Amino acid sequence: MDLRQRLDGAVVMAPMTRGGNLPYRRLCAELGARVLMSEMTVARRLKQKRRGEFALIRRAPGEPYFGVQLAGTDAEEMGWAAALVESRGADLVDVNFGCPIDHFTRKGMGAALGRQPKRIRRIVEAMKRAVAAVPVTAKIRLGWNDADRNYLDQARAAVDGGADAVIVHGRTRDARYRQSADWEAIGEVAAAVPVPVVGNGDILFPHHISEARARSGCAAVMAGRGVLIKPWLFREAIGGYEDITPDDRLAIYRRYVDLAREHWGEDEHGLTRVREFVAWHLGFWCRYAPRRADLTWPGMQTREGAAFARSPLESLLARGDEAAIAWLTDRLVARDDVDPAEAPAPSAAPGSASDRDESAEG
Ligand SMILES: Cc1cc2nc3c(=O)[nH]c(=O)nc-3n(C[C@H](O)[C@H](O)[C@H](O)COP(=O)(O)O)c2cc1C
Repeated sequence: MDLRQRLDGAVVMAPMTRGGNLPYRRLCAELGARVLMSEMTVARRLKQKRRGEFALIRRAPGEPYFGVQLAGTDAEEMGWAAALVESRGADLVDVNFGCPIDHFTRKGMGAALGRQPKRIRRIVEAMKRAVAAVPVTAKIRLGWNDADRNYLDQARAAVDGGADAVIVHGRTRDARYRQSADWEAIGEVAAAVPVPVVGNGDILFPHHISEARARSGCAAVMAGRGVLIKPWLFREAIGGYEDITPDDRLAIYRRYVDLAREHWGEDEHGLTRVREFVAWHLGFWCRYAPRRADLTWPGMQTREGAAFARSPLESLLARGDEAAIAWLTDRLVARDDVDPAEAPAPSAAPGSASDRDESAEG
């Protein structure tokens, strides 16, 4: 199956630092994901043989199609890294031209490269030369800020360099997550380049997928936060919206714990990692809200709170405060019963995650 066929109609799991950890990708694959992406992997750190970086490029058992996202500025080094990840089993190599975080942009990586289309072309070219067979893709933002929306230049530069597909996150670097994704702009890219375009931004419910595709003409959509909030989005993409019960949600979270324990191990060190990741994920899982009683849909940019909750368990799962997250983490990791009557009173401190994606990541 070539890339175009692979992407056609797919919901691609977005590359996400921390969020795209191996057991979470396994969970998503079990729930129907067919194209998954690694966390951002820095080419230089692979060159330095850092173990932590090599862990990021490991394919999960049974992973149906695994793309590795690389970040770097040096074309030769990116070519070398592309060949390496191909030899380690990646099905696709993507380049990060969108990371907004100062730590990386100051070094010229991520969104900083988006301002220099010529360098986009050179990096993609070097990677295409270096790989034997896997497709190379470029993930871009709309531009640095509203005054510099150079997405068409970025996309064309990637295609000139030989990119097999372009992934477009429909926001600028400066916008972070403050605005809704601009699917019209994504559509302009889809109309302008001859390769498949994957549109990205604000996909949370299954009707968003069909609407986004109809509006933009994209081959596929990519979902990030939506998949962290509700990994069953992949199942909904196939079977339609589910008014999922809190027990079903809990079963999915428990499955993640099983996969995480298998991955990081059952010893004290492993369980510490499992706890860390479960607490992190709970910070997104608590943001889930179903379709509203008036039949409108919650949006990605709004917080619904727990007012919708129809049972004590649903209201517990909507809690993002630190006390609730710590308590649920302990219960889930220990594979204990979750009885909402035993949960602690809400703490004033918000859980670490509730507004995290508004600031640092992505
Ligand atoms: C926790 C988190 C980590 C992210 N890490 C990466 C990353 O490593 N590489 C990348 O290209 N984008 C990263 N992103 C951005 C997503 O891939 C995606 O472009 C963005 O979240 C918009 O999609 P959404 O509206 O579906 O969330 C991250 C986003 C989140 C929330």
